This record gives sequence, structure tokens and C-alpha cells, in this order.
Amino acid sequence: MDPSSFSSTMLSWYDRHHRDLPWRIPPARRKAGERPDPYQVWLSEVMLQQTTVAAVKAYFTRFLERWPSVTDLADAPESEVLSEWAGLGYYARARNLHACARTVQADHGGRFPETAGGLRSLPGIGEYTSAAIAAIAFDEAAPVVDGNVERVITRLHAIDTPLPQAKRDIRERVAELTPNGRPGDFAQAMMDLGATICTPRKPACGICPVRDFCAAARTADPERFPVKAKKAAVPERRGAAFVAVRPDGAVFLRRRPGAGMLAGMSEPPTSDWSARQDGATGLEAAPFSAPWRRAGEVEHGFTHFRINLEVWRCEHDGETVIEGWWSTPEAIQAEALPTLMRKVLAAAGVQGVRNAPRATIKEGTPRT
Ligand code: ADE
Repeated sequence: MDPSSFSSTMLSWYDRHHRDLPWRIPPARRKAGERPDPYQVWLSEVMLQQTTVAAVKAYFTRFLERWPSVTDLADAPESEVLSEWAGLGYYARARNLHACARTVQADHGGRFPETAGGLRSLPGIGEYTSAAIAAIAFDEAAPVVDGNVERVITRLHAIDTPLPQAKRDIRERVAELTPNGRPGDFAQAMMDLGATICTPRKPACGICPVRDFCAAARTADPERFPVKAKKAAVPERRGAAFVAVRPDGAVFLRRRPGAGMLAGMSEPPTSDWSARQDGATGLEAAPFSAPWRRAGEVEHGFTHFRINLEVWRCEHDGETVIEGWWSTPEAIQAEALPTLMRKVLAAAGVQGVRNAPRATIKEGTPRT
């Protein structure tokens, strides 16, 4: 395959068919010299590792309204960043996001480093994000490989090696194809192709601009790529959650420990589900005695296990002996409540907690 004829075909397709996204500078304005704000590119890329383009739009807009620059984000308390992130899942990423903003402010004078290598030194920025920011914001011909690009490349070359072993090969092939001119548009063209035409199921090969380059399109079954290694079964865990509600509707919450699953997030008291395969699911795990009654159960998938929580509720006078606080109906929306805990509150009949999950978490990415 001739790399320059492939990349120019991709770029002219992108000129006509790119998606309009809030963090993007469209090709015509880009060619006229306008550059995207590295902060916006970084923010969108970190969010897009977590969930779909459709779900990220609202989060991206809200973050930018609240924190228009990287130094605004750096100045924000971590708890506010976490609660704005709630529903996107995987809170370690939100913590890293905040730590990264602080590092850019403290060590780089509020400006992002301009190379993939420099960006890699920042908290939470790995191979993918550094390459994406370097290409899109700073025109470096860095190879950008996300799940969409993996699919496009394994099909183009009919790569039989299963993922993740094929990753190095894929990266080398993306590096060969990435042009020195417009590398950021090229990267985004590959992502758009993967999202709109070279889709996981039923790829639209009939309208694909690079069909003539594609080995998989010449086979009977292009969907066979990428080949995936078989996944191990996900273990199941059980536990219980206890939702105490005051007459004014306030709910008793506490903070989870600073390390481990959902570290530092808020929750109604739960049993020690994170450590148990067959945890206490009944009243024996209650944090204090009260007229608990069973309200239902919730299921939730994390990266390495699924959890089933039995949900208990009681009406309470507000005199508690354990550490925590009462969150009023006005305050609860701003609590750093992970998706699982939002499901628990909803199952206990607590009103006004945004329905979880707010965002669709990407297949194969960490979940909380
Ligand atoms: N997915 C991740 N980054 C993206 C981008 N910049 N454009 C479209 N989809 C993406």
C-alpha cells in the first residue's frame, strides 16, 4: 500500500464527511491556520477514552463552562471535579485529570508540553492520549491508535493475530500511514471512518473511501477482524447497601476509604462487598440498627467483577452514631456518587438522583 495515496484519500474523505464535534476545528478553518486549544483537545480525549462521542458532548460542554482553561481546572477542589465527572465512570481518570491540570499549572506555566514525549510525562497521559494531543493540537506525526483505528488497520491488512498481541504491529502500520502534513486530521479521519463506516458490525464497505486498499473487504467476512483473544469469565460478588432517609428526604452518606475501589467517593453505607465473593447481603451487615426493610437489588459491572447489591432502606430520625453526613435533596445532585451508588439510591426510592448511568461506558474500557 502506498502510504501517501492512502492518507490523501483519507484526508479528502475527511474534508467532505468529518463529524462536527464541539472540540474540533473543522478542516477548512484548520487549513486557514486556526488551531484547537490543547486544553480542549486533552479534555475531550481523556473523556473519549471513557465513553462514546454522543455521551461526551454534554460532559465536555459542562466542564468547559465551569473551567474554561487548564488553570481554572487546576484551581478547582478535587471533590468538585469528581462530582462533575460522576456518571462517566472510572474515577481514577478524573483524579488523574485534576492532577494533570495541577502539574501543567505548577511545572509548565499553564501550557501543555508540545510533543508526545513531553505530554507522556504528565499524570494520566499514556501512549494514546499523548499521541492524539500531539497530532491534533501540535501537528506532530505521532501514530494515534484507539479502538476504532485498531479495527480499521486490522481490516486493511487482514491481521490474523488476536488483540492485544497485535497492538505493536498495528502501531507500526499506523506510523507508516500517518502523513507529516495534517497528522491530526488524519488521526481523526481514521477515528471517524471506524465510527461511521468501518463499524464493528455490518461495516458499510460499499461506501468506504479506502475499500480499494482493504484486504478484509476482499474476503467474505470483514467483520472477522479484529480477531480477539477469548476473555476469562468475570467473577460475581454480592453485598448489601443501606439507605437511611430522614423525614425531610435527606439521605445518610459516608465517604469511601481513600484507597481501593471507588476511593474517596460518596456512598450510602455498604457491606464489605469489594473484598467478598459471597458477602453479607442481609441485615447482619447493617451499619446501625434501624427498621430496615428490603427495597430491591442492583447489578453493576466493574472491569474485573460484577457486583450484586441487596438494597435496604429505613426511615430515620437523623441521630446517627457513625461517621458520615445527611445529604439533603438539594445537595445530593452535587455529591461525588458513583454510578453504582446512584443505582442503589434509585432502587431505594430516593428521588432526584440523576438516573444512572448517565453515560454509556465503552466496551472494554475500565468501568466503575
Ligand atoms: N475518539 C477519540 N478521540 C476522538 C476524536 N478526536 N474525534 C473523534 N472520535 C474520537
